[in-house]
Amino acid sequence: MTTLLFPGSFDPFTRGHRDIARRAARICDKLYVAIMNNDSKKLLFTSEERVDMARKSLSEYPNIEVISSDGLTVDVFRETKANAVVRGIRSESDFRYEAEMALANRLLYPEYDVVLLPCRDDLSLISSSIVKEVGSYGGDISKMVPAPIVDYVNEKLKKGRN
Ligand code: PNS
Repeated sequence: MTTLLFPGSFDPFTRGHRDIARRAARICDKLYVAIMNNDSKKLLFTSEERVDMARKSLSEYPNIEVISSDGLTVDVFRETKANAVVRGIRSESDFRYEAEMALANRLLYPEYDVVLLPCRDDLSLISSSIVKEVGSYGGDISKMVPAPIVDYVNEKLKKGRN
């Protein structure tokens, strides 16, 4: 049984994230999407909200399970007995960031490995930060986040505007 782990902040979950999860789920038996709570990042959505958004966005994929963690990715990697972590890359700078993280994680746990999936061309400019920026000005985010969570994300960003 092949298990992959897709960790991230997902603040909020985007169409790019969904596409990586969908493709990763095709090359393994079980995919864990792990909502990580990074103290170092200023997150807009709570852990529960990010879990909720990921679950709503991925409900059609039976071999995907959404979990969350306040710890290190290597610990989730160990706990889930994953064969590898999967991450999407949009650009050269993403690649450099992923290579650095992989190196650090391998120092913590030598069995750690990562599979990098290049993102789809049409999703390469979408990021959680852009969604927050556009949405906070009332712009249309419907092509950036999965359909089931458009209203959810808009509501939260609207609250921030008031
Ligand atoms: O979607 P992101 O924000 O690029 O994801 C980054 C994430 C969550 C994968 C990374 O920050 C992470 O692994 N955080 C958990 C804490 C940890 O393990 N830190 C060491 C990473 S080298």
